[in-house]
Amino acid sequence: MKVKIGDSVLEMKSVWYDAENRAVGFIDQRKLPHSIETYIANNYSEVAFAIKDMVVRGAPAIGAAAAYGMILGYYEKEPERAAEMLKSTRPTAHDLFHAVDHMLKSIREGKDPVEAAENYVMRTLDACERIGRYGNDLIDDGMRILTHCNAGALATVDYGTALAPMRFAHRDGKRIFVWVDETRPRLQGASLTAWELLNEGIEHAIIADNAAGHFMKRGKVDMVIVGADRIAKNGDFANKIGTYEKAVLARENKVPFYVAAPLSTFDLSIDSGDDIVIEERSEDEVLYAQDCRIAPQGSNARNPAFDVTPAKYVRGFITEKGVIKPKDIWKLRM
Ligand code: MRU
Repeated sequence: MKVKIGDSVLEMKSVWYDAENRAVGFIDQRKLPHSIETYIANNYSEVAFAIKDMVVRGAPAIGAAAAYGMILGYYEKEPERAAEMLKSTRPTAHDLFHAVDHMLKSIREGKDPVEAAENYVMRTLDACERIGRYGNDLIDDGMRILTHCNAGALATVDYGTALAPMRFAHRDGKRIFVWVDETRPRLQGASLTAWELLNEGIEHAIIADNAAGHFMKRGKVDMVIVGADRIAKNGDFANKIGTYEKAVLARENKVPFYVAAPLSTFDLSIDSGDDIVIEERSEDEVLYAQDCRIAPQGSNARNPAFDVTPAKYVRGFITEKGVIKPKDIWKLRM
């Protein structure tokens, strides 16, 4: 992804493996957009911390981080313990479990863990690029697209899932405009998606989460594209809290609603969204904004990090195999 620092533009990935130092590097997403800092994990516990504390977030990026974390677990001679710890960090993102299981299998089969992890990450990169190309075919010149949370390069190593089609459309010269939901409580839209779009030179506006219906009703949104954390066999899917209401609003206002995700996010072991575990995070993320308490002392809060959107709202899943209807998910070969 392009990262502008002063007058220079760097090409960076959200997460990488540093073989020389046996370390995993991250763009520290907790610090964006105010400063571009890196976080270096020197052992698997530090990788687990980075995932849990959201130095890195977004399902495919969490998967990549976990794959690299398993290399460190292998070098620390504790691959099973590393797998257990990494899996315990965030329960909803399917890519995390997919990546750790892939690594455990490779290690048990005596394969080189660095090669196994790099292959896993290359497949994620390739999937996101293909998602970008298939999704670009759905975007016409002049479209105004709404997205929720951050499903960009930061969330996937590079390109993004929901943002990949927008990147490709923009690079093809299509004039697009992106509505960016701010995405309370952690503001991934306002702080991360807007930052990525700015770096790419894509026109956009950040809106309060509760403004999407207003703009859809006035005919200002042509399409919604979001990412996903886990997709069940019937097409129900979990994504950042607030996605469900955007899908209902899109249906009400006849706006096509797409979900962009690699196959590593599909969990064909579960029949429906009822089986998806929803992470509940600290109430402080709701009670405070930027370290400032915004609620009266004595008030409590609830903070589910994700919600489940029923398959009936989804026009299509944009994957590396093309655009798939919810009813055809069961046919996917993983
Ligand atoms: O809590 P987060 O920031 O990890 O949640 C991220 C999302 O909900 C993304 O939309 C999803 O992981 C897809 S990322 C390509």
